[in-house]
Amino acid sequence: MKTIAYNMFGGTEVLQTIDEPTPSIQADQVLVKIKAVSINPLDWKIRKGEMKLMSGSKFPKHTGTDFAGVIEEVGSSVTTFKKGDEVFGIVKNNMKEGALGEYVAVPATSVWKKPAAISFAQAASIPTVGGAAVAAFQKMGKINSQSHILINGATGGFGMFLLQLLKPTGANVTAVTSTNGVAYAKEWGATSVVDYKKENILSRKTTYDVVIDLSGKMGYKNAKQIMKPQALFLNPVPQPIDIPTTLIQNLFRSKKHIALITAPSEKSINLLLQGIDKGLTIEVGKVFPFTQTQEAYQYAEKGGYIGKVVIEL
Ligand SMILES: NC(=O)c1ccc[n+]([C@@H]2O[C@H](COP(=O)([O-])OP(=O)(O)OC[C@H]3O[C@@H](n4cnc5c(N)ncnc54)[C@H](OP(=O)(O)O)[C@@H]3O)[C@@H](O)[C@H]2O)c1
Repeated sequence: MKTIAYNMFGGTEVLQTIDEPTPSIQADQVLVKIKAVSINPLDWKIRKGEMKLMSGSKFPKHTGTDFAGVIEEVGSSVTTFKKGDEVFGIVKNNMKEGALGEYVAVPATSVWKKPAAISFAQAASIPTVGGAAVAAFQKMGKINSQSHILINGATGGFGMFLLQLLKPTGANVTAVTSTNGVAYAKEWGATSVVDYKKENILSRKTTYDVVIDLSGKMGYKNAKQIMKPQALFLNPVPQPIDIPTTLIQNLFRSKKHIALITAPSEKSINLLLQGIDKGLTIEVGKVFPFTQTQEAYQYAEKGGYIGKVVIEL
């Protein structure tokens, strides 16, 4: 089968199409014929060698965490799926394996039935950022119409799901986005939108109960200026050192810094599937063919897209 692999850490130029044997499956696994793989920022952080501690330095490496496709084969103990089912899912360990190829073998517990109403590209956009958005939403605690929330970097994949999860709560949600995201942020439920290319959110006098920084550029030190006394700062891109240090420092401060590490769960995916039934939208900003994988990553890494960037096979 054709798959994408790389033999050294680096830029998009290290991504190569290679031939390798179609994976064989174990009793608890399914073999999925891939139709679409969405791009996540983590893909290129691993490829650039920024996650070496977890990914190791053994090559070749594969890429792509979230996929959608059609079940080709089921393991002997799998009763939940059959050949031909349309599914979406996630590779079990994205530090060591990748879905961007013609087939992937994963545990049956790592895939879910694709709703008929959405495309393969939309389904492949769900797991990582959808699961993270549910986890972030739950970390926020009790949210109601009195709550003031700031989402910095609101119109990528994570923000798209988080805005729509917050909408029914009636909370006051300020979305910070670039110019082309303004209309999308409003449509997804932001009550106020700030274009970061025109205004620095830190210079506003407003303070928030929750600040979540999806751009990775604000940091707790800056966020503190716009946090209410008991507010939370949710950080989905913590440095490894932040994980123990924030736990200790939070004991002595009222403005908490929460390092957010998430993985999609059965519960979070089911909640998103219920949302999709009720009209939650998934915007795929751009689709590339498999033959343009390098271009797809170049485009995604430049930023400026709305929702997700997807590669189709
Ligand atoms: N901890 C976890 O479990 C977990 C799970 C999923 C994702 N993440 C991380 O969460 C982050 C967000 O994920 P994502 O998939 O939504 O990424 P994304 O699609 O790249 O979205 C990031 C957003 O930040 C915006 N942005 C860039 N510079 C900004 C600035 N100076 N001020 C305000 N906004 C700015 C971007 O807008 P423009 O492109 O228009 O400039 C973009 O919409 C990523 O770093 C990802 O790795 C963590």
